[in-house]
Amino acid sequence: MIRINENYTKLKASYLFTDIAKRVNAFVAANPAKPIIRLGIGDVTEPLPPVCITALHAATDEMAKRETFKGYGPEQGYAFLREAITAHDYTARGCPIEADEIFVSDGSKCDCGNIQEIFGSDIRLAIPDPVYPVYIDTNVMAGRTGMNADGRYTGVTYLDSTPANGYVPAIPSAATDLIYLCFPNNPTGAVATRTQLAAWVAYAKKNQAIILFDSAYEAYIRDPAIPHSIYEIPGARDVAIEFRSFSKTAGFTGTRCAYTVVPKSLQAFDAAGQPHSVHALWTRRHTTKFNGVAYPIQKAAAAIFTAAGQQQTRAMTDFYLGNAKLIRDAMAKLRLPCVGGDNAPYIWINTGRDSWEFFDLLLNQAQVVCTPGAGFGKCGEGHVRISAFNSRANVEAALTRIAAALK
Ligand code: MLT
Repeated sequence: MIRINENYTKLKASYLFTDIAKRVNAFVAANPAKPIIRLGIGDVTEPLPPVCITALHAATDEMAKRETFKGYGPEQGYAFLREAITAHDYTARGCPIEADEIFVSDGSKCDCGNIQEIFGSDIRLAIPDPVYPVYIDTNVMAGRTGMNADGRYTGVTYLDSTPANGYVPAIPSAATDLIYLCFPNNPTGAVATRTQLAAWVAYAKKNQAIILFDSAYEAYIRDPAIPHSIYEIPGARDVAIEFRSFSKTAGFTGTRCAYTVVPKSLQAFDAAGQPHSVHALWTRRHTTKFNGVAYPIQKAAAAIFTAAGQQQTRAMTDFYLGNAKLIRDAMAKLRLPCVGGDNAPYIWINTGRDSWEFFDLLLNQAQVVCTPGAGFGKCGEGHVRISAFNSRANVEAALTRIAAALK
C-alpha cells in the first residue's frame, strides 16, 4: 500500500498565500462590483526594465538560428551571468566570492526550500518568528520538527522578532546547527546592522553551524551603513550560504531568475565528525535535480548589470520605495506604529488587534488585501504586512480607502 510522507500532516492545510487567495477570491465572487487592491503577496507590478526586454528579444532571435541556438546550458548558470553577478554584487563590495560559487536558479523560494535537503535530518534549527513560511514548512516536510502546538512546531528554536527588540532577533543561548536569517526582512522590513550580523557569524563559527542568509530584498537598502551581503562580514564565507533573487530587484517574479552563493570553504560534518564540502554537496544536488534557467532569461538577468540596467533597476526600486513612504506616512497619520519601508518594500504594522480580523476588516471595508501577521508566525499576531508593490494610483487609492475604513 502506497504511504504518504506523514510529516505533511503536521502542516497547516495550505500555504499562507494560498489561504489568502482563497479568502480574496471568495470576496470577489460575492462582491463583483467592488474592485480590490492587492497589497498582500509581494508581487511586482511594474514592467521589466527596457534593457531586459532588449536582451530577451536578442536572445530569442539567437534561439531561432542553428548557429546560435542553445540546448541544455550549464546547470549552475552561464559563465556570462555568474561572472557579472560576482563582479557587481560581490567583488565591488569587497566580498571574497568567486564566479564558481554562484548557482543560478529559477527562484530563491525553491533554493531556500531545497537547500535543507543536503543537511542531516536531526540537526537543530533556529528559525525567526515571524518568518517567510518556506523556511519552516520545508523543514516540517523533511521531518525535522515535532507537531505544531499552539502555533509553533516542537523541536525548533524560534528567534522572536518583537517591538521590544526592534524586530531583529537576539542570538539564542542554546546551540543550533542551521540558522535562517533574512535581511532586509520579510515580513517586517527590519534591517540588521554590521555589528548584529558579525555577532551571528561569530555564533555560527562557535557552534560549527551554517547561516542561510536570505538577501532577496537587498536592492531596497538605502542606508549606506547596512550590509547588502553577509559576506561583507569577515569570516562569513566559512559559515554562510546566501540567497539572492532578481524578482524584487528587477521585476522578475514572473520571469524567474535567482542565485544562491555556496562558498567552497564552507564545510558540514558527517556522523563521525569528518568535514565535507557543502559546495560539492549542493553541486551534486543542483546538477541532479535542476537543468538550468532558460538562456534568454539569463541574458535578461545579465543585462541588469550594465550601466543602463543599474540605472533602470534603481529607478524601479526607488519607485516602490516611494510607495512605501506613502504607506508609512499614512500609517503615522492613523497613529498605527510601523517599521520597514525605508530599506525594504514591506511595512509591518502593529495594529494591536487580531491580525486576521484586521485583514478581514481591510478586505471588507476597504477592499484592500494585506497579509495577516499571524500567517508568518506567533510573533506576527497583532500585526499586518502591507506590500509597496503596486502602481502609485493603486497605493494612493488603497490608503484613502484604509483611512476611511478605520475612521
Ligand atoms: C511574499 O509576499 O512574502 C513574497 O512575495 C513571497 C515570495 O517571494 O515567494
